[in-house]
Parts: sequence; structure tokens; C-alpha cells
Amino acid sequence: MTGEPRVIVALDYADAAGALALVDRLSPAQCRVKVGKELFTAAGPALVETLAARGFGVFLDLKYHDIPNTVADACRAAAALGVWMLNVHALGGAAMMKAAREALASRSAPPQLVAVTVLTSMADADLAQLGFAGRAPELVLRLARLARDSGLDGVVASAHEAALLRRECGAGFRLVTPGIRLAESGRDDQHRVATPAAAIADGADYLVIGRPITRAPDPLAALQAINREIEQAMTAEG
Ligand code: C5P
Repeated sequence: MTGEPRVIVALDYADAAGALALVDRLSPAQCRVKVGKELFTAAGPALVETLAARGFGVFLDLKYHDIPNTVADACRAAAALGVWMLNVHALGGAAMMKAAREALASRSAPPQLVAVTVLTSMADADLAQLGFAGRAPELVLRLARLARDSGLDGVVASAHEAALLRRECGAGFRLVTPGIRLAESGRDDQHRVATPAAAIADGADYLVIGRPITRAPDPLAALQAINREIEQAMTAEG
């Protein structure tokens, strides 16, 4: 594989043993890994440090959303664990996102700081119930611009929004896309899925992939096949 890993494997496990059994079969040259709320709550910072010490870039997916000072402190604590990427909720507002950015500024190699815009589980009716005017894509774009203008490195977004966000937010803005499925695989509980090649063609930088790798009979072989598809798509993009 050439270049940096584009795949972030979602370690959606209930404990460290499950996560490490999978990680033992992967290679840090071929992927990064994502630790979310379930695994972090169960296994804590020690697991994050273990993964980083094994050479894996860790995306700490805790979606911080609190007052600016609290989020800034949480971001500092996450960076001290050696994570490669962390995220906040754009709905926390510009002051919160700027505080997060500033909290990382003094580090020599700060982690990538990205925002969640609108949870993909929210339909237009849910947004209306909360008092938001407009439809989900408009809100996604508005929050992505706010994240960019607050100094964040990028956003987590569906691959279906990637092309629009790439056009509107510029070339350097990182797009992290979950909901990836191989052409031949099922959808699990994901609704709006995209293949790795389609996500890359639409401008995604990093693909969050869980079950197509974690539940594959041979996770490393599944990862390698996905990496080949990504490389071909990137070559086609030029
Ligand atoms: O197994 P699967 O590939 O569906 O896992 C996707 C991962 O990305 C999960 O950890 C899920 O929580 C996360 N995610 C998502 N959709 C979002 C944001 C995060 O599926 N909008």
C-alpha cells in the first residue's frame, strides 16, 4: 500500500479483549482504528494508549459537546493519550469549537480535530421537532462551514454529502465518512451506504469501516481488498 492509511476500522467491541483480538490481526501501516463511546467507557484510556503504543493512529470518537472550557480540557486530555484524531459536536457552537482548537494549539503534532454535524440517525422530522428550520443537508452544510470557520480540520459526514462538502468547504478540509459497504456485501443497519470507491470519488479522505472488516472471516484480507479498491479510485481521480 502506498501513502497514508485511508481506512479507519471501527472497534465496536464491548471490551478491550474483543478489540485487541481484532487489532492483533491488523497492521498499523494498513489502517487506523476508531474507539467510540462503548469501548472507551468499558476499557478506558489504557486501551487507547495501548493502541497508540502499537503504532495505530487512533480516532477517539467521543463527540464532545459541552461548555467551551470543559470541551477544551477534554481535548487536551485526549491529545495527551496520543490520539491521531478526535471529534466534537458542531452543535456545541463556534465558541466551543474554537476553544477545542486553541486547546490543541500548543502541541507540536496536534491531533486532527473534526466535527460531527447532524447525526445521520436524524430525519427531517426529528430536526423540525427540535426547532430547526430547513432540511438535513442544509444544516449539515451550515454546520460544516461553521466548523471550518472555527478552525477545525474537517467533519464526519455521510459519503452522500461528501461531494457537496468537498465543493463548498475546499480542498484541504478533511471528510471522514462512515456508512461504507462493499459492492457485494449487505447493509446491516446502515441506510445510505456507499462503496469505498464511490466515497473516494466523491472526495472523502478517510473511510470509517466497521462490520465489513470486523465480521469478515479474514479481517486483514478484507482490509487489503478495500485498500486496493481505494488505491484504484485514487489513481482514477489523478
Ligand atoms: O459497522 P459499520 O461499518 O456500520 O460501523 C460504522 C461506524 O461508524 C460505527 O462505529 C458507527 O457508530 C459510526 N458512525 C456511523 N454513522 C455516523 C457516524 C458514525 O455509522 N453518521
